[in-house]
Amino acid sequence: MAKRKQIKFGALIHGVGGNVSAWRHPEVPADASVNVEFYKKQAQTAEAGKFDLVFIADGLYINEKSIPHFLNRFEPITILSALAAVTSKIGLVGTLSSSYSEPFTVARQFGSLDQISGGRAGWNVVTSPLEGSAKNYSKTEHPTHDERYKIAEEYLEVTRGLWDSWEDDAFIRNKETGVFFDPAKLHRLDHKGKYFSVQGPLNIARSKQGHPVIFQAGSSESGKNLAAKSADAVFTGHDSIEEAKKFYKDVKDRTFAYGRSADDIAILPGIGPVIGRTEEEAEQKYQEIANLVSIENALDYLGRFFDHHDFSQYPLDEPFPELGDLGSNSFRSGTDRIKKIAKEQNLTLRQVALGSATPRSAFTGTPEKIADLIQQWHEEEAADGFIIHSSLPSGLDDFVNLVVPILQERGLYRYDYESDTLRGNLGLPIPANRYTAAKVNS
Ligand SMILES: Cc1cc2nc3c(=O)[nH]c(=O)nc-3n(C[C@H](O)[C@H](O)[C@H](O)COP(=O)(O)O)c2cc1C
Repeated sequence: MAKRKQIKFGALIHGVGGNVSAWRHPEVPADASVNVEFYKKQAQTAEAGKFDLVFIADGLYINEKSIPHFLNRFEPITILSALAAVTSKIGLVGTLSSSYSEPFTVARQFGSLDQISGGRAGWNVVTSPLEGSAKNYSKTEHPTHDERYKIAEEYLEVTRGLWDSWEDDAFIRNKETGVFFDPAKLHRLDHKGKYFSVQGPLNIARSKQGHPVIFQAGSSESGKNLAAKSADAVFTGHDSIEEAKKFYKDVKDRTFAYGRSADDIAILPGIGPVIGRTEEEAEQKYQEIANLVSIENALDYLGRFFDHHDFSQYPLDEPFPELGDLGSNSFRSGTDRIKKIAKEQNLTLRQVALGSATPRSAFTGTPEKIADLIQQWHEEEAADGFIIHSSLPSGLDDFVNLVVPILQERGLYRYDYESDTLRGNLGLPIPANRYTAAKVNS
């Protein structure tokens, strides 16, 4: 029998949590977002569970209404470099904005992380939804949603070009002859485009996985096209298996249309399992977290997606307000979805706010139920794997100790790593150096 295609897992490590009030739970270290020991422990737990990767999200603008984790947290590349030193197999994926950074610097940062970790780096390329980011980067305005994606596309071309600056056998380092490198294997990019002008070469060579793995996290039309054209993996979010299957097929079809194989891209929805020994215990755990969130907290949380809109001005128990275009230059796919669901299900503002701040995950219940759902999503082509985000730190331990063994027994998940690079474990090809390939083909 052919070996079954295995499920992939990533762990989102997010300090005091994606939940606005999770930090108040007795189990959460209140300084977790800046506690390196906390990050180390989470990464090592995920590695013990043979996860493919840890994932660090990020943002570039805060105000008084931002959730606690966003107010005071580590910069992704910096914390991932620390995690590289205390792990050996797990991939290290960090979020960095293509709208507010320079490709030369970013290619160098991820190139360095890739070397430091021995080929385990990944970059989540985001276009930065928050308008306020412009104020922190000496810009007069936030580029439009469409333009941010055009910038991202050229940005990735430049970065990938820079990563090929050195052919893999360029460094001779012969102490006898005094030859350090072969100049024929060093290449300048000489990129001149609409947004970037970059000569190169880059001052760091490729790691053994060739290039860091490229993640993409936007779900709008432009986001899906960027993923299909350029990404190795997609981080996404869905409320139902039907929605996830539609998205999965759509992105795989687009990838194929760009001349790539559908297997060249891994689709990884984020899920927040709440695990109990019984259904009742899981429900109780969910309620413990949900009850920490006040309606004021929830309105602030919702407002961030709509460019920090003040929702406290509307009546709570009347239909969700008409917002026109608000949000479409920010988290477009997310705000479109919130507006659509509110309208279709005739929800009040209170329901939308609480539903956003403390969503009830379909993956709530016993380990067997969660394993069944994961298997179903995987088999029915809704996901190649999942990014696990737990409201409480023990949620990751529960997943590793209780759900992972079930999936292993069913032959759906690895007992050990196949490789020590992120590409190797995700089953992604190593990109050939373009200059070496050109010589081979000429
Ligand atoms: C699952 C998911 C995770 C995301 N994570 C981040 C993040 O960590 N940092 C960030 O700036 N934007 C993040 N984004 C925002 C996207 O990069 C993008 O800017 C935003 O969703 C708007 O693009 P879209 O309309 O194509 O979805 C995320 C989006 C999704 C769907």
